[in-house]
Amino acid sequence: MRANSPWSQNIQFFESLPSTNDLLLALAEKGAPEGTIVIAREQTRGRGQFHRPWVSPLGMGLWMSLLLRLPIENEMIQPLSQLGPVSLCDTFLYLGIPPSSFKIKAPNDLLLHQKKVAGILVETRRGISSFAVIGLGVNLHQRVEDFPVELREQATSLSLAGIDHIDRETLIPVVIANLYKRYQELLSHPSSLHDAWNTYEVGD
Ligand code: BTN
Repeated sequence: MRANSPWSQNIQFFESLPSTNDLLLALAEKGAPEGTIVIAREQTRGRGQFHRPWVSPLGMGLWMSLLLRLPIENEMIQPLSQLGPVSLCDTFLYLGIPPSSFKIKAPNDLLLHQKKVAGILVETRRGISSFAVIGLGVNLHQRVEDFPVELREQATSLSLAGIDHIDRETLIPVVIANLYKRYQELLSHPSSLHDAWNTYEVGD
């Protein structure tokens, strides 16, 4: 895998944003091209699934959103929701994290040693120019006390798992290259994305 892709040319970095998904949804409405990426060091109103907040402290994680422009047919919803988790698993593998230590937990969680280390929020807009925004949050450097009390049992970070060689700068080019590669697969033969999902997903 080459750790660069056409999408690496179109990254907008911010120190602090309410939410990278919110900004990218707004940019998409104004015509931003496919492959536009927004990354912030901090989110003050990060959003998760089911309208839950996503706590995104300064410098402690990868808070990133990617814009895709494609027809959002019903059969595209599942592959789109699989794209982020599979690409993150590919990235963990590539960066040397043992495959036995992480798993996808449907619909959108990535677990490391059975605790949530990352989450993905996919938001779609249908219409004349339909698009999807894929938001990825990866916990990198939090200590236990950096998580809200109610999340401390379920949440983890790479640092808490003893993985100290991966920082945001290491992660970004690899995540983007894997998202790009898996997106080409999604467009050409989505079943192989589904196969990858199955190998990474937690069994019952
Ligand atoms: C979840 O597990 O509920 C999904 C969490 C998604 C968080 C990411 S961080 C970057 C992007 N911007 C947001 O406001 N949310 C997503």
